Amino acid sequence: MRFSNQVAIVTGAGSARGIGRSIALAFAKEGARVVVADVNLDGAKAVSEEIAQLGGKSLAVKLDVTSEEDVAAMVDQILAEFGRIDILVNNAGITQPIKVLDTTAEDWDRIMAVNLKGTFLCSRAVIPTMIKQQYGRIVNISSVSGKRGGGVFGGAHYSAAKAGVLGFAKALAREVAADGITVNSVAPGLIATDIRGGLEPEDVQKEMTKDIPVPRLGTPEEVAAAVLFLASPEAAYITGEEIDINGGSHMD
Ligand SMILES: NC(=O)c1ccc[n+]([C@@H]2O[C@H](COP(=O)([O-])OP(=O)(O)OC[C@H]3O[C@@H](n4cnc5c(N)ncnc54)[C@H](O)[C@@H]3O)[C@@H](O)[C@H]2O)c1
Repeated sequence: MRFSNQVAIVTGAGSARGIGRSIALAFAKEGARVVVADVNLDGAKAVSEEIAQLGGKSLAVKLDVTSEEDVAAMVDQILAEFGRIDILVNNAGITQPIKVLDTTAEDWDRIMAVNLKGTFLCSRAVIPTMIKQQYGRIVNISSVSGKRGGGVFGGAHYSAAKAGVLGFAKALAREVAADGITVNSVAPGLIATDIRGGLEPEDVQKEMTKDIPVPRLGTPEEVAAAVLFLASPEAAYITGEEIDINGGSHMD
């Protein structure tokens, strides 16, 4: 029960097989009150229901991370309901497999907005509360694509956004460290979720992962474990850092 009495927001947590759902469930199992925030409210409610079945406490919120109004309304609602915000996990993200020459300016803006601007807007919105508390943990979900220059499924815009998340986290980490707030990131490799438009059949997964030292897709639970560590009180002296969760597909 590492997170008893803490309040954790997980954005993009309403996906039935997603990383955000696993993070939300893991926090709830360890005693946190979890804000399950997603642009898909039905999905968020379903995860909230799973948390209730575990005996946990949560709040399902409709949130578009690209909307300042939505983000502000969410923070107001959480403070009215729970009175504090200890953890923010910037997990909401979208990808698009596309070459630069085929990428429109609208594609670029959409990918940047959800993956990068959303991370900025949500972080900025919770920091005043975390400063008041003199305690906070922000964990961003970046990607191996942002570190190794492209992934299998993301375009260059996605790589740029996810690299931007890492740079933003480091700069923000310096700004807020003296207030007891850490800002870290995780960079997953290929994880078994629906982000690529549905989970691939087993033979396709085998082919996709044959060159990965740990030759399989990662699981959302494996990402959640690293996120919970960075969000824990024990990780107080780790900030501006990133953890790779990629089966060895990229090592640095
Ligand atoms: N699955 C992978 O292989 C992989 C690898 C590296 C990084 N990631 C990152 O992990 C995170 C979670 O991805 P996933 O694989 O669970 O994908 P997913 O598609 O299963 O879940 C993403 C969730 O984000 C939500 N979302 C999308 N746009 C939103 C918005 N504007 N506001 C709020 N919520 C929004 C979706 O509704 C969905 O519930 C993403 O940031 C993704 O880029 C995934």
